[in-house]
Amino acid sequence: LTSKRYQIERGQFSTISEEDVNFFTNLLGHHRVINDETELEGYNIDWLGMVRGASSVLLKPKTTEEVSTILAYCNKRKLAVCPQGGNTGLVGGSVPVFDEIIISTALMNKVENVDTWLGVVTCQSGCVLEALDEHVSEYGLMIPLDLGAKGSCHIGGNVSTNAGGLRLLRYGSLHGSVLGVEAVLASGEIVDCLSAMKKDNTGYDLKQLFIGSEGTLGLVTKIAINCPPRPQSVNLAFLGLETFDDVLKTYKDAKKKLGEILSSCEFIDQSSIECVEKNLKLKAPIGAHPFYMLIETSGSNGIHDEEKLNVFLEEALGAGLVTDGTVATEPSRMHHIWSIRERIAEALINDGCTYKYDISLPLPHFYKMVEDMREHLGSNILRCCGYGHIGDGNLHLNITSKEFEKDLLNLIEPTIFEWTAKVNGSISAEHGVGFKKRNYIHYSKSSGAIALMKQLKALMDPNGILNPYKVLPDN
Ligand code: FAD
Ligand code: MLT
Ligand code: ZN
Repeated sequence: LTSKRYQIERGQFSTISEEDVNFFTNLLGHHRVINDETELEGYNIDWLGMVRGASSVLLKPKTTEEVSTILAYCNKRKLAVCPQGGNTGLVGGSVPVFDEIIISTALMNKVENVDTWLGVVTCQSGCVLEALDEHVSEYGLMIPLDLGAKGSCHIGGNVSTNAGGLRLLRYGSLHGSVLGVEAVLASGEIVDCLSAMKKDNTGYDLKQLFIGSEGTLGLVTKIAINCPPRPQSVNLAFLGLETFDDVLKTYKDAKKKLGEILSSCEFIDQSSIECVEKNLKLKAPIGAHPFYMLIETSGSNGIHDEEKLNVFLEEALGAGLVTDGTVATEPSRMHHIWSIRERIAEALINDGCTYKYDISLPLPHFYKMVEDMREHLGSNILRCCGYGHIGDGNLHLNITSKEFEKDLLNLIEPTIFEWTAKVNGSISAEHGVGFKKRNYIHYSKSSGAIALMKQLKALMDPNGILNPYKVLPDN
């Protein structure tokens, strides 16, 4: 079987038989083995509607032991599997390419423990990020990760993609926040690295292998994550700026003057705002400007934080770096402003087809890339816009057209990756490699590092059943 659309060949895996379905049904019961074509539709297609698989079976385990039994069986039978959380991934990693069995964590959503002294939650991997955050909020804690997909994505999906999001600037990456991971290997063996201690230097830090490996080395079943105290006071500024140079200077000033209370620094260009206003009918709180920034502060003393933010804003306005702006402190206004930023991805798909790029760049090159791509693509597109986590040097460059056009894709790739590599950026800042970028990984990883990745894969998943055709390049 060859996928014409993707020009790749199906691996040497078995095809699922009636006997296999019976095995899974005996293990999980009828209602946790989904093989109805209509019901499977949503699990076979990714959030962007760009990558589609043809799986005929989806399994919904509830426990680590069930995952272990499933994987041991699949490994013995050489049946390929695709782990799936909330299916909000943006690189085609969460859906099968051919007929891989989908293993969903949707029913693995139990919170096991909240350590209120150290501030650590231990839970199953299928907890929805927003629900988990609400759960720990009852203890005055927060999950140190927030992203637009919070209502659907699972914490296991977040860990498996090493998701970044809106507050990485403040709380750091999941490689630091995740204290423990329990995962099941392809063989069915359970790897227990579920320490809930802040410090644990007992040998190799194996949990790191599962953070960001996108379901290719094991299926993450449980997680222990560090939860900072929930802030007592939050302020959000939405600013308008005239040049990108002003954006950079404002970011530098924000770091210096807001210091420890700076919790987010986001960037949006005019074209992205126009898209949100046109396609979602959401109104920006200030008039049109070439560039916008969202600057959030979170702290423990409202008066102190407000004073700091006001001084910073007065100076930025006085120096002409910022030409317009508004500050929100009420939850409903902050929510509205955050929606404008968080829903850009959704607004873009309403244009028709989104070619999505998620790139790390040294800041002086950050917006030049959008300008160069705009010039390169000319009138072949509907839109070429930039937004993202400027505080982390992470640009989301998006191009849209009415329908998918292969010629347009060829015009964008690999030019965009060559551009990135030339300035020593990364072709995947936070979304991962998945299916879409695997054959471009060499733009950001040395051949020695890729060879070691392949050795690790062979060691941990010798039959290659875990999320095949993802992350690792063909050659
Ligand atoms: P899925 O999409 O289901 O899976 C993602 C990958 O992880 C796949 O390769 C899958 O096989 C694997 N996987 C899932 N669960 C497991 C598991 N338990 N064990 C092993 N492998 C597993 N990402 C960011 O980093 N920052 C953002 O700000 C951000 N914003 C977003 C906003 C929107 C509107 C959308 C749609 C997406 C956004 N994303 C963002 C991308 C996406 O939400 C993240 O990658 C998220 O972490 C994926 O979680 P998920 O549960 O949906 O995983
Ligand atoms: C975001 O920051 O909005 C997400 O990563 C999604 C996107 O890149 O569009
Ligand atoms: Zn992002």
